[in-house]
Amino acid sequence: VLLGVTSSYSRSAPVQFQPMKSLTDHASWQRLTAHYQTIKDRSISDLFTDHNGRFDHFSIAAPGLFCDYAKNHIDQTTLSLLSELADDCDLSSAIDRLFAGDIVNATEQRAAWHTALRDPAPNTEIQNAQAKMQQLATDIAGQGYTDILHVGIGGSYLGPAVVHDAFSAIQAPQLRCHFITDENEQALQQLLSRLDPTKTLMIVVSKSFSTAETMVNAKRILPWLQASSSDALEKQLFAVTMNDQAAKAFGVAKAHVFPMWDWVGGRFSLWSTVSLSLVLAFGWDLFSALLSGAHAMDQHFRTQSWTQNLPVILALIAIWYRNFFKAQTQAMIPYHAALRNLPGHLQQLHMESLGKRVTQSGAAMDYDTGAVIWGGVGPSSQHSFHQLLLQGNTCVPIDFMVTQEDHLPYINCLAQAAAMMQGDQSLPAHQRISGNVPSTMLVMKTMNANSLGALLAMYEHKIFVQSVIWDIDAFDQWGVESGKRLAKRLLSNDFEDSVDASTMGLLKGVTQ
Ligand code: F6P
Repeated sequence: VLLGVTSSYSRSAPVQFQPMKSLTDHASWQRLTAHYQTIKDRSISDLFTDHNGRFDHFSIAAPGLFCDYAKNHIDQTTLSLLSELADDCDLSSAIDRLFAGDIVNATEQRAAWHTALRDPAPNTEIQNAQAKMQQLATDIAGQGYTDILHVGIGGSYLGPAVVHDAFSAIQAPQLRCHFITDENEQALQQLLSRLDPTKTLMIVVSKSFSTAETMVNAKRILPWLQASSSDALEKQLFAVTMNDQAAKAFGVAKAHVFPMWDWVGGRFSLWSTVSLSLVLAFGWDLFSALLSGAHAMDQHFRTQSWTQNLPVILALIAIWYRNFFKAQTQAMIPYHAALRNLPGHLQQLHMESLGKRVTQSGAAMDYDTGAVIWGGVGPSSQHSFHQLLLQGNTCVPIDFMVTQEDHLPYINCLAQAAAMMQGDQSLPAHQRISGNVPSTMLVMKTMNANSLGALLAMYEHKIFVQSVIWDIDAFDQWGVESGKRLAKRLLSNDFEDSVDASTMGLLKGVTQ
C-alpha cells in the first residue's frame, strides 16, 4: 500500500506483510550453497592469482567514498548469484517503499523515512524543524554561551557523537559539546563543577522522554542549571522529543521543544533535530554538507545496479559470510581518531536492526541473521585485538575505513589488511600468520562532512538490504523494551514473583 506522500506521511490502512517464499527455498540460495563448496577452500590470494584485474573489477567509486572489496572470499560467480538473490527477494521494490515513506516497520506500523531528512527539498515538517534549528543558532550567537550539555543515550547519542568528533577534526566548535549518556553521578558532578551554568545550554534528547538513564541524568543537572538564574530554564533548557507533554512537565518552554517523529527510528535519527547540539556548535553549513553527502549516497543506492551499488555489495558480502561461512561477528576498524565513536554507532545500527529471529510475518527462520558487530579505532587496535585476527582461528570479516589525508595511518591500514590476507607461512609455527582474513577497504580522500554523510548513509542502506533479504523488520527493537520493563519493576521493588533466585539473591544483597 503506497502511502499518500504529503507534508507528513499519513497512516493508511494497516499493512499486513504477505509471507514471502522462505529465503532458503530460492533457487539462487541453493546455487550459492553449491558454489560455496567450490570456493570455500581456495585462499583469497589464489583468487587474486586467478583473476587479472581483480582490483579494478572489485572496487566501486561511490559518492564521497572509494571501496576496494577485492580482499574478500568472492569471485564473479559469487557476486552474480548474490545479485540474483537480491532480485529473488525483490530488493528493488523494497527500496522504493523505503524512499516513498511507506510503512516498512510493520510491527510498529510506521514508516522509516530517515532519507526524507536529507532530501534537499524536504517536506514542510522537516523544513520547519530545520529552520527552527537554524534560528536558534542565530539567536544564541554572541550571547556568550560556551558549553552545551547533550543529554541522551542510544540513537539519541551515538550518531551525533560520531558526527561531533568528525566535525571537530574539520573545524573548531563555537561551543563545547558534552555528551551525558550513562555517566555515573560523580563524573557528571565533576564535569558540572568545571562549567559555568550561566553560559551552558542543556538539551535533553529523547524521543520518548522516558528513557531511564537520560531522565536520571537530566534530573541531576536541572537543579545546577536552575540555581544559576531565575530565567535559566526559560532561556537555556531545550528538548528534542516526540513527547511534548513530558518535556513541558520537566520544565521545558513550549518554544524550546524541537520535534522528533515516529517515522524516524532512533538509530537513524542523527540527520534530524537529534543533532541540534551540532548545529549550534558547528553551524548549519557543516551540518547541511553532511545531509548533502547522505543524499548523494541515497541517489547512488536508488539508481545503481546491484554490482555497482556500494550498500548492496557490502550487504551481500555480509550475508555471504554470515550465512555461508558462518562468521559470527564482523569488525569495524576506522583508521582515523575522529571516527573513534563509529564502531559504537555501527554496533547499534546493525545489532538493533538485524538482531531478530522471526520473519516479517512472525515465522521462525532456518537461517542466521544479524552478526555481532564490534571494533575499535586503528592503529591502537593493532596493539589490542589484531593478534587474534592475525593468528587466531576465528574468521572475522573486517571493514576498514581510512582517509588519504594522513599518510602514516593510511599505510598502516593498508599494511594490516594486506598482512591479514596474505599471511606468512614461511615463518616457524608460533610466528606463522595464517592469512586469508577477508576485509573491505572504505577510503575517503579527506575527512569532510560530505564524505562522512555518505559513509553513514551507506551503512544505513547496507543494513536495510540485509533486512530485506533476511525478511526481518529492521526498524523495531522489541527486545530492548523487555529489559527496560524488568528494570522498572526491580527499581519499584515489584518483583517478588518475576525474578529468578540468583537475581533475588543479588537484590537482597550478598555483599558482606
Ligand atoms: O535502545 C533502545 C532505544 O529505544 C533506542 O532505539 C533509542 O535510540 C534509545 O533507546 C534512546 O531512546 P530515546 O531517544 O527515546 O531516549
